[in-house]
Amino acid sequence: MPLPDDFLYELKMRSDISDIASSYVSLKRRGRNLVGLCPFHGEKTPSFNIYPENGSFYCFGCGAGGDVITFIRKIENLDYIDAVKFLAQRAGMEMPESSYDNSMSDLRRRIFEANREAGRFYYSSLYSPVGKEGLDYLRRRGLTEKTIKHFGLGFSPDNRFALVDHLTSRGFKPQELVAANLVYQNKSGSISDRFYNRVMFPIIDLRGNVIAFGGRIMTDVKPKYLNTSDTPVFKKSTNLFALNFAKNKGGRELILCEGYMDVIALHQVGFTSAVATLGTALTQEQAMLMKRYSDRVYICYDSDEAGQKATQRAIGLLRNAGVEIKIIAVPGAKDPDEFIRENADKGRERFEKLLEESGNDVEYRINRIKQKYVLTEQSQMVLYLTECAKLLAEIESPIEADVYAGRISEEAGVRKDAVLQQINGYKKRTYRDKTKKQFRDIQADISARGDRINSEKADNLRAARAEETIIAYLINNPDMAEKTASLLPPEKMITAFNRRVYKIITDRARQGRDIMPADISGEFTVEENGKIAGIIASLGEERLSWTACDDCIRVILSEGERITAENAASADITDIEKYLERLKNQKK
Ligand code: UTP
Ligand code: MN
Repeated sequence: MPLPDDFLYELKMRSDISDIASSYVSLKRRGRNLVGLCPFHGEKTPSFNIYPENGSFYCFGCGAGGDVITFIRKIENLDYIDAVKFLAQRAGMEMPESSYDNSMSDLRRRIFEANREAGRFYYSSLYSPVGKEGLDYLRRRGLTEKTIKHFGLGFSPDNRFALVDHLTSRGFKPQELVAANLVYQNKSGSISDRFYNRVMFPIIDLRGNVIAFGGRIMTDVKPKYLNTSDTPVFKKSTNLFALNFAKNKGGRELILCEGYMDVIALHQVGFTSAVATLGTALTQEQAMLMKRYSDRVYICYDSDEAGQKATQRAIGLLRNAGVEIKIIAVPGAKDPDEFIRENADKGRERFEKLLEESGNDVEYRINRIKQKYVLTEQSQMVLYLTECAKLLAEIESPIEADVYAGRISEEAGVRKDAVLQQINGYKKRTYRDKTKKQFRDIQADISARGDRINSEKADNLRAARAEETIIAYLINNPDMAEKTASLLPPEKMITAFNRRVYKIITDRARQGRDIMPADISGEFTVEENGKIAGIIASLGEERLSWTACDDCIRVILSEGERITAENAASADITDIEKYLERLKNQKK
């Protein structure tokens, strides 16, 4: 990395990880650390830790971890250099000149520029003679000029080279356009437009960059919508259409729809908190993103069976994310866009009413179950109650479960006790399943999670654990690096990843440079930084002594001489025991 040490040092001093993480996550102090709900996966009990002493974070639930720069990379979806810029800006620091030659960041910047220029091109095409069909189409669908302009809608001409020609004449290189996914490249290397003869919907991130496009064909030809694939600036699973507008709405509420047109129709009549996923089912990441901008989410999916299935799924993810959920059903229309249009000048008022009358997710799910049965028949009523009890067993809050148990027992004319008893039976069962699953997760965690970054760990558990102990020890005791390196030269480390980390740490320490996570994170990917933070988090707490470190050196040296398959297998068991112990300690 071309960033000078003194710049990074100052950036680190001015970017307190506790402060920065607190602006995204609500954190509580626990001993020397801060804990909270992890922003990178859905959870209800906090396993996300901040270690102010060494400026790192680590989540025991999903394994995300690293320094403040890694945190920003992940939460803001930026690459290394852009995360540094982000923090520098926040800290009021100038970026050093030399950092601009970073090629990844350069490519990202060019993609943003190409996308912006493409957006302009599509917009002006919409209002030129070639775009007449597109403009007529959008008007036919009831969009006003103001809405078209607000969303920057456009038209890709029916010509496979319109955009390529325009952008190359503006100095964009073919490989930049390919990377932006604005063009296709065929085997012979020639390029042509990805989007043609479609009305265009730009997708804009929270900082106002055009990151992607969706394009709708104006006939029944398939695919109806074509979207930008993932690029260095765009990941469809972590962005939401129109969140750039919705986040400014205030009120901490969002309306989640299925389609671009639903969102646009709702915004046009004043519901500017509507957002949509980008041609895929909702992901946990998107649910977490929504949680950052809202306390309540109205799910307003299509009324067809697919929409209802998607609703059930979204409920699970949004519950995990911890937002209050409301479900809107659009009566007599297939989706919100159609509902607004069919109700003409009453659209706004009637949709407002739907928002007011919306039920919560439990009511919605009970109603869905009810629809499956004929409740006047005794046997079907039993099935209905049984299924409801199963559903209520999944609810964490006993008060909430009690309320619904009361309601359904009254409706069915049975004792509430009986319903509650049934619920408890299912609760015990799910608890057992969960425990089993947790154990499987732990096993997977030990063999697989380690694997992804350090693929040799599973076969060299004893050595790898000793290596990790040494790494954790040195990060807390940089003055011992010289001595350690003389007893254990980097090339003696057995697993390649740990060897690399160890070499970087000892080289730097011997040069008198800092080796806190924030100092070395530029050398590693986001996942690698997560792994390093995990090593520090799980071992750093124990205040390792030199004796422990010295023992580990001997372990590695002897392991290096003879590694057998059997001792890897037996270490496997102790590993699980250690992990369980750690979990237990955490719970205390
Ligand atoms: P819908 O089929 O519900 O489309 O798909 P829509 O938004 O109501 O579109 P109109 O009203 O017919 O124009 C919902 C969303 O799924 C994605 C798009 O993001 C769309 O907005 N989708 C759909 C695709 O990505 N590709 C497709 O071929 C279809
Ligand atoms: Mn539609």
